[in-house]
Amino acid sequence: MDKELEGAEVAEAQIAVHWKEEEYYYPSAKFIAQANAADPAILERFREENFPECFREYADLLTWDQYWHTTLDTSNAPFWKWFVGGKLNASYNCVDRHLAKNRNKAAFIWVPEPESEETQTITYQELYARVNEFAALLQDFCQVKSGDRITFHMPMVPDLPVAMLACARLGVIHSEVFGGFSGAACGDRIVDSGSHILITMDAYYRNGELIDHKVKADQAIERAAENGVKIDKVLVWQRYPGKYSSPTPMVEGRDYFVEDLLPEYRGRRVAPVSMPAEAPLFLMYTSGTTARPKGCQHSTGGYLSYVAGTSKYYLDIHPEDTYWCLADIGWITGHSYIVYGPLVLGTTSVMYEGVPTYPDAGRAWRIAERLGVNIFHTAPTTIRMLRKAGPDEPQKYGYHFKLMTTVGEPIEPEVWRWYYHVVGKGEAAIIDTWWQTENGGFLGSTLPALQPMKPGSCGPGVLGIYPVIYDEEGKMVEAGSGRAGNICIRNPWPGIFETVWGQPERYVQTYYAKYCKNKNSKDWHDWPYFAGDGATQAADGYFRILGRVDDVINVAGHRLGTKELESAALTVEEVAEAAAVPVMDELRGRAVEMYVALKPNYAASSEVSEKVRTAVETLIGKIARPKNVWIVPDMPKTRSGKIMRRVIAGISNFTDVGDTSTLANPEIVEAIRQRVQKEKVARGDLPRELSKQELEEIRRFGRAE
Ligand code: PRX
Repeated sequence: MDKELEGAEVAEAQIAVHWKEEEYYYPSAKFIAQANAADPAILERFREENFPECFREYADLLTWDQYWHTTLDTSNAPFWKWFVGGKLNASYNCVDRHLAKNRNKAAFIWVPEPESEETQTITYQELYARVNEFAALLQDFCQVKSGDRITFHMPMVPDLPVAMLACARLGVIHSEVFGGFSGAACGDRIVDSGSHILITMDAYYRNGELIDHKVKADQAIERAAENGVKIDKVLVWQRYPGKYSSPTPMVEGRDYFVEDLLPEYRGRRVAPVSMPAEAPLFLMYTSGTTARPKGCQHSTGGYLSYVAGTSKYYLDIHPEDTYWCLADIGWITGHSYIVYGPLVLGTTSVMYEGVPTYPDAGRAWRIAERLGVNIFHTAPTTIRMLRKAGPDEPQKYGYHFKLMTTVGEPIEPEVWRWYYHVVGKGEAAIIDTWWQTENGGFLGSTLPALQPMKPGSCGPGVLGIYPVIYDEEGKMVEAGSGRAGNICIRNPWPGIFETVWGQPERYVQTYYAKYCKNKNSKDWHDWPYFAGDGATQAADGYFRILGRVDDVINVAGHRLGTKELESAALTVEEVAEAAAVPVMDELRGRAVEMYVALKPNYAASSEVSEKVRTAVETLIGKIARPKNVWIVPDMPKTRSGKIMRRVIAGISNFTDVGDTSTLANPEIVEAIRQRVQKEKVARGDLPRELSKQELEEIRRFGRAE
């Protein structure tokens, strides 16, 4: 055995865990006094013996046209049906029902990226008018009816939620493709969903540039046509109504400006269509670069109940709050927690068009101050970006948050503490919400007034969610054992997706087959949901998510979580971002290589590299000591901000970096490749020939999707 491995107690199949326990942080008395969930009785109500009826409490936050008769129907497990017999309309719940008391309260405040442009306030009344008019247009001009699918390829503009709610009003299934995705990616999703209408926009701002977006519609339509699906009509919103901001020509008889069509529908009202609770509300694709994308089909009644309940108790949304979620509506976070959750509760949801650090590091805080934002929702990648750009900026602005969230990936405790002390000014409670596109809403989090925060841990399962960690053999990994395994949810919940659109076998295979106890069972206890994330549970019941189970680096039989390695690197003062990748190694199978980007005003030096090596070695162990530390200006990232580890792994191993066209910054790839490979060649650190399996491992590494 390698000398460095002596004393290691982990078996091959386990992920080694070396985290140290972090300290608790408690919310302020002021926060607790006003919280929606401040009475511990709520925890009792959602105990397992009250499942599934406990979720009535969430469904009762909605207005139903017809009350349901069966809370959970498991007769076709694992295709769960919630609130069966119930009927409702999502658009009515998000818009109409607020008119009586809050007609002129802001539903959305939209902030354009150019600071010289005015913010736009859309009251519930105005939203009602716009949604109805657009619904009338869809119905008459596009001839769509309930159950049809419409694909959107829209940036962060208010026309996007207007279009979503108009579809919901008609029972039409919307499928928004993230605006930053390529035309080809959009085309594939058009094909998969079988849409014949595409809704897009001429242009939008990003990082100071007015980007031509219409061009992608043409590419998407071509791609769809090649694959047998014809788009009949393209509706094009204009960034500046009445003015076309794209150089790409409109196609006669196919492309229409929404602004040209709308006058005919002014003042029109469309009755909301009463939909069965289990009718699909929307599709949200989880993208893969290799396999066919998975269209996660979300329901109307279950989904809306779940986002209402979690928004109320976890985001602590009150109607009088000003809530700002920095995600893009093109992701599930934006659907659930910019549009449906906040609106169903009748609050004000802020939407921002562009990059939070444009034109400078203070922009986000100026927006928060000016609009009086008191709930702030974002992701670790943005937090790191804000810290990198302006670590001292928040204190220059007079905003006050009562609650902040982090979502999307594990947050390094170091970054968490900056978020808490600097962004939150020590006043805001933080919730770290763990969940997935497939889940509709949160799975793991602390209830902000009732359960203390612990940096780096999401917390226990949320109300009505009973997680468990299984090892590869299906044996439970006990809380406090210090071991990691696959986190699963033992029960279904109202927000869970209904199926993978058009691929029901893939739904069962990917999420339920692994730990199913009996394939013929109609009892939910036999169908744990496999999330595909590695996790460990502390003795206090809090979960710490290690990242995707395929995100581990196996050094001589030790499965090291990339997040853990990166967290160690981030304890070094100078480091702003870190990415750990495997490099094939003669001796140990794999060794760790670390890529780091530094905070502003720090220069790359061999001292910094050495500090990173030492930090990893001290915090995790000698085995994990990075073979190389590369200091780079930036990381290759997806448009949702996730670091593309497979691209970096390709560079480190001299293999093909794969498709980089969906990256936010594809140009960085070549710059890093040249630098790293040149230096490796100079050192004679050349790779051996790799097996097919090894090549595949690198190609799929980290799978940022
Ligand atoms: O690995 C987990 C990570 O993000 C994955 C889901 O990504 P996506 O479907 O894009 O949804 C993101 C928005 C919900 C998960 O499988 N993840 C998400 N939230 C957290 C997280 N990892 C750790 N902590 C979180 N809070």
